[in-house]
Amino acid sequence: MQSNFWKKLKKPILALAPMAGITDSAFREICRRNGTDVVYSEMASVSALYFKPDKTLELVRFKKKERPYVVQLFGKDPAHFAKAAKVITEKIKPDGIDINFGCPAKKVFGHGSGCALMPQKELARQIISAVCDNTHLPVSIKIRAGLRDTTAIHFIENIKDLPFSTVMVHGRTYEGSFSGKVNYEIVEKIKKMIPDKIVLANGGIFTPEDGARILKNHPSIDGLGVARGTWGKPFIFNQIKELLACHPELDSGSNKISKISKKFRFRVKPGMTNDYDFKKIKKIMITHAELIWKDKKDLGMFEIRKHLAWYVKGFPGAGELRRKLVEAKSVKEIKNILKDF
Ligand SMILES: Cc1cc2nc3c(=O)[nH]c(=O)nc-3n(C[C@H](O)[C@H](O)[C@H](O)COP(=O)(O)O)c2cc1C
Repeated sequence: MQSNFWKKLKKPILALAPMAGITDSAFREICRRNGTDVVYSEMASVSALYFKPDKTLELVRFKKKERPYVVQLFGKDPAHFAKAAKVITEKIKPDGIDINFGCPAKKVFGHGSGCALMPQKELARQIISAVCDNTHLPVSIKIRAGLRDTTAIHFIENIKDLPFSTVMVHGRTYEGSFSGKVNYEIVEKIKKMIPDKIVLANGGIFTPEDGARILKNHPSIDGLGVARGTWGKPFIFNQIKELLACHPELDSGSNKISKISKKFRFRVKPGMTNDYDFKKIKKIMITHAELIWKDKKDLGMFEIRKHLAWYVKGFPGAGELRRKLVEAKSVKEIKNILKDF
């Protein structure tokens, strides 16, 4: 039996949440270098792993530097989950396996996978059991605050006896999609229901202050999963840690956090690149480009465009810089463009 890495992580645990099209090997390594404690893969189809695994295995390959690394699976057929768990355990050898119960995207939800599984009591149990029975790795799940009249509380009540070790709760309902209010209270309630399991809150963490505030206001939560807040700001993990470490006395509910943030040159506005040293960001951009080039060559140069645009968001002259960067076809070109700025 392999030891459970989740239990060894120092709390609060800061995780890079799974994002299809974003959390590839290069980005996961960039986030690990910048303070995240654990990274998730892009979601991988259990049916693809069941019938024709090669391409999907390629999608979830990883490098040692990314560890601890969790592969996320999606699908709806317990037999496919069972085989996929075996294949991933044997061929990829990650540190954990996660099951997607939260995705609202049409092509996943419409096929009865992701969040569509939340109200299906028996099927959800079968899927979790199928994965747990076919791997020695710790199993985690990712859920939403609810779907129609099934809340995350109902969902957890139904499965809490199963031997999964961690749950990441996106505190928005299916109906709330990606912009509704985030319910962190429900995450605390879930922690009370399963005190021996690790419970992470996800959703709406766009600045270091957001992260620090949630952890301070909801102290029973074991950590956070950050998704879009990492776009152009993979260092958000280190910033959250710094904010917490410098000011362990931060009160919940006071505006002390934003005062301290100003002192530490963190902007509070969501979506804006903060005042992080541009030199450091340039270095991160170049490393990111080098890593993605190594893995994916020309496709990588195409895929990094969105990241480059996010990195420079909010900088003076960002428009012109962005235009040049997204046309770059090699790491050398990216370096040259950045040198002049
Ligand atoms: C582009 C994109 C891709 C995503 N892909 C996945 C995925 O593969 N698996 C998953 O469980 N959630 C996925 N999510 C959801 C995120 O993990 C996260 O739950 C959601 O974005 C809310 O967190 P945030 O407010 O920090 O972005 C994705 C979200 C985005 C924006």
